[in-house]
Amino acid sequence: MKSFLYATALSLLATACGNQPSGEEKPAAATRPAIAVKNYGLLGDSLIREYTLSNAAGMQVSIINYGGTITSLLAPDKAGKTADVVLGYDSLAGYLQSNNPYFGALIGRYGNRIAKARFQLDGKTYTLAANNNGNTLHGGVKGFDKVIWQATPLSDSSLRLSYLSKDGEEGYPGNLQVTVVYTLTAGNSLQIQYTAATDKATPVNLTQHSYFNLSGGTDSTILDHELQIAAGRFTAVDQQLIPTGKLDSIQGGAMDFQQSKKIGRDIGQVAGGYDHNWVLDRTGNGLEKIATLYHAASGRVMDVLTTEPGLQFYSGNFLDGTLHYTTDGKKYVKHAGLCLETQHFPDSPNQPSFPSTILQPGNTYQQTTVYSFYTK
Ligand code: GLA
Repeated sequence: MKSFLYATALSLLATACGNQPSGEEKPAAATRPAIAVKNYGLLGDSLIREYTLSNAAGMQVSIINYGGTITSLLAPDKAGKTADVVLGYDSLAGYLQSNNPYFGALIGRYGNRIAKARFQLDGKTYTLAANNNGNTLHGGVKGFDKVIWQATPLSDSSLRLSYLSKDGEEGYPGNLQVTVVYTLTAGNSLQIQYTAATDKATPVNLTQHSYFNLSGGTDSTILDHELQIAAGRFTAVDQQLIPTGKLDSIQGGAMDFQQSKKIGRDIGQVAGGYDHNWVLDRTGNGLEKIATLYHAASGRVMDVLTTEPGLQFYSGNFLDGTLHYTTDGKKYVKHAGLCLETQHFPDSPNQPSFPSTILQPGNTYQQTTVYSFYTK
C-alpha cells in the first residue's frame, strides 16, 4: 500500500511539475493513469528518461527524451489483447547504435532529403551536413533524432518535448525553437503536434519515424498488411531518391494505393521497395484522414490523419536483421516494419514548384499528425 501511494505521488508530481523523479513507477490503477516516468539510461552525463502515457482502453505509448523517440506503442487486437505495434529496442544502447535507422524518432530540422546538401535562400547558399550519398537525410549527421529534448508532462495524457536548434546547427540558418506535444486520447489516438519558430528564415520539415508492424510481433514482415493512401500522384525520384521535380501519376500501377491493397502484392515491381513521397489528394491544410493501414489477422487498423501535403511510405527496405538490442531479441529483417512519415515534399528548398518549406521569423510552423487505432 505504501509503495502504491509512493508511486502514485511520484506520478502526480511528474505530471504536475515536469520535474521528473527517478525510480520506476507503475501507472496507478485509476481510470486515467498519470504519466509514469522511469530512468532509461545515461548519455554522457545526461539521464535519459522514459515517459509512459496510458489510457483506460489499455493503449500505452512510451517516449524517451533522446530523439523524442517512441520506444513502444501497445494497442489492442480484436480480442482485446494488447501488443507492441512498433519496432524498438530493449535499452538505450539500441537507439545509440550507429546503424539505428531512426526507429521511433522525431525527425528534423528537415525530414527526408535535400539534394547535394545545399540550398539557396535570399541569395545566400547554405551548406548542410551531408550524410546520404552527398545529400542530407533527416536533418544531417546529428538531426533532431539524436539530441536530448526537454520533456514536460502537461497532463495525464500529454507530454511536451522542446528543443532549441541553434543558428548554424548542421548548416541550417536561424535559432529554431521546436515544440512537439504527444497526446494519447481516450479513443486510442496518438496525436503529435509540432510547432516551431525561428529568428532567421529557414527550411523546416518535421516528422515522426516510427516503424509500424500491426501484427504486434507475430508477423516478421509487413507484406501482408493492407494499405490505402489517398493520393493520385507521387514525387518522381532519381536513383538516389532525390525528386526530379516531376509529379508522376500512379496510374493503377504498383504505386497505386487508392484502393486498399496488400503491400506485398506489387512491391516486387518497385526497385528496392517502397520509399517514396505520395502527393496527397487534399483540400486546404486542415487535419484530414489520408491513409489507413490494416492487419487482418489481428484486426488492428491504424488511420493516419495529417495537415501535411505529403506522405513518405517507406517499407523498411534497408532492414537486414543486423540491428542489436532489439525488443525481445527479434530479428528485424527486410520489411519488418513500415514508416508512414507525414511531411512536406523531399528537397523542397531546391524545388521551386513544390509547396514552400521556408519558415519566416514572426511566423509559426505548425503540423499535426494523428495515428488512430481501432479494430475490425
Ligand atoms: C526514410 C528514407 C529512407 C531511409 C529511411 C531510414 O524513410 O526515405 O530512404 O533512409 O528513412 O533508413
